[in-house]
Order: sequence, then structure tokens, then C-alpha cells
Amino acid sequence: MSLPQHVAIIMDGNGRWAKQRFLPRIAGHRAGVESARQVVKNCAKQNIKVLSLFAFSSENWRRPVQEVSYLMELFLTGLEREVSMLHDNNIQLRFIGDRSRFSEKLSKKIAEVENLTNANTGMVLIIAVDYSGKWDIWQAVRKLACEVSQGTLQGSDITPEMINNKLSFADLPDPDLFIRTSGELRISNFMLWQLAYSELYFTDTLWPDFDASELEKALAHYAGRERRFGYSSEQLSELICSNNG
Ligand code: IPE
Ligand code: IPE
Ligand code: MG
Repeated sequence: MSLPQHVAIIMDGNGRWAKQRFLPRIAGHRAGVESARQVVKNCAKQNIKVLSLFAFSSENWRRPVQEVSYLMELFLTGLEREVSMLHDNNIQLRFIGDRSRFSEKLSKKIAEVENLTNANTGMVLIIAVDYSGKWDIWQAVRKLACEVSQGTLQGSDITPEMINNKLSFADLPDPDLFIRTSGELRISNFMLWQLAYSELYFTDTLWPDFDASELEKALAHYAGRERRFGYSSEQLSELICSNNG
């Protein structure tokens, strides 16, 4: 079965999961952390090279203050609790997003865990917090604009590769498989540039219910897709034949 190298997930539906159980939204977020923990373990077991989890978008700051602070607290306690499991599983953890609005305590913890797991050679786990695809492209463009204003780069020489190299995931392959839970059929400002050719998988399952068998279903869906990247199906068959021959 062909496996994606990079799986990117919008972990959505925590609030609705809680509502169905007459629980506060934060109970859904707590259950969501447990679901993330299992998915991380299962992806590592399946030899997925990169797993990206969208945990908090740039727009999620619009949520009620109590919910936002609970989520920030959850990131901190989740990190504290899971760091040894991640490290023991040889997982390299990276955070992407605009870190300027985090508390000092959270920023410190993130830096500490990133340093600790930096040399790990297993799965790369990316947690996107205060991240959005537009933010990512914006910060890349600003870096290039700086080079232009310093005279080290000509605006007319800018290539798509140069933009790509300034994005948060520059050294990693683009997502092969994108998963969104909870039945919403949108990208909600996740990796806009990098999702250009990802296979998209949407499921009605709410994030806290997304277990090992749900992951299997998504991986099986991926294995059944023909990725053409603009080529025709016939061209691809010829390419495969000539590579095998
Ligand atoms: C996803 O679940 C988690 C975050 C956005 C932080 P939601 O909180 O969006 O859950 P729903 O969409 O309200 O059910
Ligand atoms: C997207 O979910 C962000 C995360 C899961 C972290 P949202 O629940 O915020 O997305 P919208 O607002 O429904 O599009
Ligand atoms: Mg949501």
C-alpha cells in the first residue's frame, strides 16, 4: 500500500463533540489532546515521515478569552506531559506559527522541547499554533522584500522556489495527504501553498473520535488515489513502465 510521507490534519470538531455530551467546550479540547496523542503514536508506528497537526489558527484568537487561555494552558501541560513519550519514540517536534503572542512560559517550554528533540531521526511532528497559510506566505514575502531593499536580490529574479524556501516547511516534503475531521469542507487558512497537490480527505468523524481505524481509512483512501501532478493518466502508466523496465 502506498503510504503518504507527509500527513497534515485539521483537528476539528472538539466543541461539537463536547456539546453532544452536554459538556463544556474545554472537555472537547481535552479529549482532542488524547486523540492527537494516539494519532501521533499510530503515525510513527506506520512510518509516516512527517505529521502536521493544526492546533490553533491565527483566527482562533477570536474565540472567547477563557477558551483561548484554556487552550494555551493545554498546549503547555500537554507538552510537559508528552515530551518524554515523544523523545522516547525518536520524534522530532517543531512548532510553526507566529510565536510573538505566546506567554513567556509557553515560549520557553516550546524552545526547550524543540532543542531536546532536535537531533531525533524518527517522525517529524509539526504543531501549527497561531499559524495560518496567509501568515506563512506573508512572512516569506517580507523576507524576500527585505533582500530586495538591501540590494542583494532583484525583484524580477524572484522564483517560486525562492518563496518556497522562505516558508515554514521549506526543508520538508509538501503534505501528500490532508485530513479534516468534523464534516467541514474547507481549508480554513491551513497550508495554502503546500497543499497545492495534496490529496484531500474529509470525514464527518469529530476529532476526539478519530482513532486508529479512522486513520487506517484515510490512509486506504490515499493509497487508492492516482496522483497526476498535471500529467495524463496514460503518461503516468508509461512513466511507471519505463521506470520498471
Ligand atoms: C478544533 O475544534 C480545535 C480548535 C480550533 C482549537 P473546535 O473547537 O473548532 O470544535 P468545533 O468546530 O466548534 O466543533
Ligand atoms: C481550524 O478549525 C483550525 C483548527 C482546527 C486549529 P476552526 O474550527 O477554527 O475552523 P472554522 O472557523 O470552522 O473554519
Ligand atoms: Mg471548529
